[in-house]
Amino acid sequence: MKAVKISEGVYWVGVKDWNKRVFDALIPLPHGTSYNAYLVIGSEKTALIDTVNPGFENELGEKINGVKGIGEIDYMVMNHAEPDHSGAIPYLLERNEKAVLVATKKGADIARAYYDVPEDRVMVVKDGDEVSLGGKTLRFIEAPWLHWPETMFTYLVEDKILFTCDFFGAHLAGGFYDSDVPDIMTHAQRYFGEIMMPFSAMARKALQKIGELEIEMIAPSHGPIYRNPERIIETYGRWSSGETREKVLIAYVSMYGTNERIVKELAARLTAEGIEVVVYNLVNSDIGEIAKDLVDSRAIVLAAPTVLGGAHPLAVHAAYLVKALRPPARYALIVGSHGWHGRSNEALLEVLKGLNLELLGTLDVHARPGADDYNKLLRLTNLLINKVREG
Ligand SMILES: Cc1cc2nc3c(=O)[nH]c(=O)nc-3n(C[C@H](O)[C@H](O)[C@H](O)COP(=O)(O)O)c2cc1C
Ligand SMILES: [Fe+2]
Ligand SMILES: [Fe+2]
Repeated sequence: MKAVKISEGVYWVGVKDWNKRVFDALIPLPHGTSYNAYLVIGSEKTALIDTVNPGFENELGEKINGVKGIGEIDYMVMNHAEPDHSGAIPYLLERNEKAVLVATKKGADIARAYYDVPEDRVMVVKDGDEVSLGGKTLRFIEAPWLHWPETMFTYLVEDKILFTCDFFGAHLAGGFYDSDVPDIMTHAQRYFGEIMMPFSAMARKALQKIGELEIEMIAPSHGPIYRNPERIIETYGRWSSGETREKVLIAYVSMYGTNERIVKELAARLTAEGIEVVVYNLVNSDIGEIAKDLVDSRAIVLAAPTVLGGAHPLAVHAAYLVKALRPPARYALIVGSHGWHGRSNEALLEVLKGLNLELLGTLDVHARPGADDYNKLLRLTNLLINKVREG
């Protein structure tokens, strides 16, 4: 694949990583991912915006050289210091004697630590600073914590293109423009859940900032380029504001079927009441899918047996992820089961402590569900239905 021209003097020189299956040693990538990098050529100067993951340096280098020599780059704009976008900086510095790394103050600190960038090759920029390439102006917009503390966006003034790195990204190798991917918003939601949801407050601030810009194209550094940016901007507005649906996410583990019976009963009841339900058996669930559904679920149900005096480890892992991702859900129900002494509910509540979730109740079944358990479940289910409908 060669460089792709996306506007006059603006080229995509990124890499499609079809085979990547796990991101950050945690998140499954069923559709691979891409590391987008962009070359912007003015009448006097040339800038490269972001680079690629380590291992793909040569692919990046070949694409750049197909348009303009690596040695001719004047600015290496680093919107984000994470290695999936900045991993090729050492490779480029070795092949270019003049380019300076353009980054926020924090970005420059992180780049020095990770990539051995010499002091005289760093240019620190602040919010609103501009660099002219000759007929092309790059404006830098500080957008911290999307997804590390140093992140920024770069706006190409004349072409009205906003380069946002991780923000507005999607993990998929396929598709070049948003119009090439029919279910692009599903990919974007999963990515938002996995990467951006914990930083929703910072996302709202960034959206407010870019609200003043005229944007014709959003060019993120994962996934397709948006030629119709309104929809993703508007949808990020909803996701980051914590708007939820009449939707319940149920995640469970069951060794001998006790928790599964409770979960099936609960899911059937909610479905019959017209409430959207997603059920994940944690034994074989993709946590990226769970993250996607956490973005707009109003309530969360966790169900797990007591194992070795605590909650089943898969449920502890799931509860820990929920805590870390800080979803906007308002309500929780915790279900457990035990053989002789129930401990799973308290163990899961301990993990979730500190989240702004209203606990609607707990149920702990001894061995097999009996009439009392089903009665309690019915009461809790009715309460859950009312709360979810109230909003
Ligand atoms: C490996 C293992 C460890 C267990 N440890 C405990 C325990 O520490 N305390 C307890 O009360 N029950 C314990 N149990 C019993 C289960 O919690 C009980 O069978 C429960 O009803 C299983 O629910 P499930 O079928 O939904 O997995 C254990 C069961 C297994 C298989
Ligand atoms: Fe990142
Ligand atoms: Fe990234």
